[in-house]
Amino acid sequence: MPESILIDTDPGIDDFMAILFALKSPELDVLALTTVFGNHYIEITTRNALVTLELAGRDDIPVARGAYAPLVRAYHGPPTSVHGHDGLGDAGFTTEPESEAAHTRAAQFIVEAVMSRPGKITLVPLGPLTNIAMALKLEPRLVQATKRVVLMGGVAFAPGNVSPVAEANIHNDPEAAAVVLGANWDVVMVGLDVTTRVVMPPRYIGELGESGSIYGKLVARVVPHYQAYHSQAYGNDGALYTHDPSAIAYLIRPELFTTVRHPVRVDTWSGYGMGQIIVDRSSKWYPGVETTICADVDAAGVLELFRERITR
Ligand code: BDR
Ligand code: CA
Repeated sequence: MPESILIDTDPGIDDFMAILFALKSPELDVLALTTVFGNHYIEITTRNALVTLELAGRDDIPVARGAYAPLVRAYHGPPTSVHGHDGLGDAGFTTEPESEAAHTRAAQFIVEAVMSRPGKITLVPLGPLTNIAMALKLEPRLVQATKRVVLMGGVAFAPGNVSPVAEANIHNDPEAAAVVLGANWDVVMVGLDVTTRVVMPPRYIGELGESGSIYGKLVARVVPHYQAYHSQAYGNDGALYTHDPSAIAYLIRPELFTTVRHPVRVDTWSGYGMGQIIVDRSSKWYPGVETTICADVDAAGVLELFRERITR
């Protein structure tokens, strides 16, 4: 039986890649996409989710629009240097989607979906955790009813990407992250500790584009802007970090990842540490809930899995 997943997403170039990866993986049944602000305004991330599904030939999958801003802070607008002015790398995916978002908003959609099938549905957040926190506030029984949460976000032992210590999805709504990581459910954190070790070189991307697969062509088309950003920001010569697709890889092949379990807290102070994941390595200071943290990864294994699925 495939694992039923709800992907909460802010497409976003790597969200686009992750969604295609999930759709091509028989181990996963993508029930719906819920959208959140982050890589762009909510209107644009919702449009991009609809466009992604249409390009993938899967507009049968519902999309529910979610939060336009963090729980208690302001949203400061899209990082266009990373994901382009349209959030999809300005790659010419300009046709307006024919499909529309559901009438139900994301948090309510998540509650209804999970409570209708207790113990069966996995949440896969790939953006700020606002919708998931709101869903928990609407329905606290989600904690027991959700099978597990596998999220891309945070960093435990490596440097951050929006500050020396914080990763973008957590930094974009630290209060929501504190709610989600503080709840007593099974959370797996696929963060920068592993996603920055899974590096897609330009040759690999070129081969996806020339593989003859439609999904491979879509990936090769969406990434040039992201490659340019990586070159400028990290001196990577066009090689990409594999953020959101790594969470999908964990769902399919957890044995490619080395994990540790510790209690964590999120720094919600508005200082230099905002959005930092504070790991209690001794499990002494914050007794109670432990988060599964991906600490290392078989990067070649993840790249091979992604290639195999996208070009299949
Ligand atoms: C995360 O931030 C976003 O820009 C990406 O889509 C990914 O989810 C990486 O820090
Ligand atoms: Ca994302």
